[in-house]
Amino acid sequence: MNVLLIGSGGREHALAVALAKSPLLTKLFVAPGNPGTAAIARNVVLDVADFDAVIAFCRVQNISFVVIGPEQPLVDGLVDALDAAGIKSFGPSKAAARLEGSKGFTKDICAKYNIPTGSYERFTAREPALAYVRAKGAPIVVKADGLAAGKGVVVAMTMAEAEEAVDALFAGAFGAAGAEAVIEEYLDGEEASFFALSDGEKALAFASAQDHKRVGDGDTGPNTGGMGAYSPAPVVTDEIVAQVMKEIIEPTVAAMKAEGCPFKGVLFAGLMIGKDGPKLIEFNTRFGDPECQVMMARLEDDLLRLLLACAEGRLPQQVRLSPKTALTVVLAAQGYPAAPRKGGKITGVEQAEKIPGVSVTHAGTKAEGGHLVANGGRVLNVIGLADSVAEAKALAYRGVDAIDFPEGFCRRDIGWRAVGT
Ligand code: AMP
Ligand code: GLY
Repeated sequence: MNVLLIGSGGREHALAVALAKSPLLTKLFVAPGNPGTAAIARNVVLDVADFDAVIAFCRVQNISFVVIGPEQPLVDGLVDALDAAGIKSFGPSKAAARLEGSKGFTKDICAKYNIPTGSYERFTAREPALAYVRAKGAPIVVKADGLAAGKGVVVAMTMAEAEEAVDALFAGAFGAAGAEAVIEEYLDGEEASFFALSDGEKALAFASAQDHKRVGDGDTGPNTGGMGAYSPAPVVTDEIVAQVMKEIIEPTVAAMKAEGCPFKGVLFAGLMIGKDGPKLIEFNTRFGDPECQVMMARLEDDLLRLLLACAEGRLPQQVRLSPKTALTVVLAAQGYPAAPRKGGKITGVEQAEKIPGVSVTHAGTKAEGGHLVANGGRVLNVIGLADSVAEAKALAYRGVDAIDFPEGFCRRDIGWRAVGT
């Protein structure tokens, strides 16, 4: 079958590599893709916000399955539009993508269905929000309700920070995403991510991972989309997996069905694992980036068959992933996240990929004058696959050191929670 993959990041390159291995695949298109996907698929220029254009493209190219990487088209309803046109896709409907698109919606689902998370309140005006913050005290977490490109969350350790966050939010710092605030209890513990697939009825545990959100070593500096990740996360033991499936994932899948908006796709749970067990921080309704890259490095099943099964309501009982650890280091352009510098020359990717156990996915790259240049904030992901986190880390950094990207940088401590620095 012909498949269209939507997105342009490292996540989509990793998905493209996995989809390209499927015996079910005839032709893979990626919109817009990147130089990494261009090597294994056909990149196409398509305005993915224009659903009619996407549908027309699918008809012309005889595409029968669309895989959607990023959250925005899901929250905007691309899956619903494709459904109405009779084209299958992987991802939740607009109503089900509210699990990512509205933090207040998710918290209300948790409250109604007894899913463990921090206590919270929703607000549409500054004064009552300030009164709540003052009554609860710091630390406390102030969030914009809607999608804010990862910037809508303030973990306020002091009352002054909390009040400032409430003021900024209601002064319009996050535009429409901040028309409503969710203020919630600060959760203490170790953060981890857990991914499960669902076909609307059933849920299947996929994998755990841990991301590194801050830009600098030692978890310092501003938040980013993620500077590195590994999978599995040792903190997510088999016992925690069982608990997360039983207390968080399965009740959410059942709740969404009961609410009339069954969830199909991948449910990405951000967890805080504290002394009372795992609690939900938030849901995303897509694969994480760079978590996807490390999970795909471990996947031993046919991804296309698996994603189709989600869309068609026939989720298998099991998925095969390597017991090895995959660890990825993100190479970013200097200035990221505030103002990444474009155009920096990159060489040595082929040398890195010659190291056994190392692979590289492209994110913000561009082919120019016979070589690669940086074309975005996060530029490349270098992945090591080995028997332990320590070995995967050593391999990934050998790969990083084979690449020459003078205008780039990376964190040097990816994996510290599992192996120290
Ligand atoms: P989000 O954009 O929702 O992923 O939140 C960004 C980060 O804020 C998370 O990765 C956590 O580190 C932190 N965070 C969010 N909610 C809480 C919470 N209730 N307690 C503690 N930390 C939180
Ligand atoms: N790496 C975090 C995310 O994809 O949301």
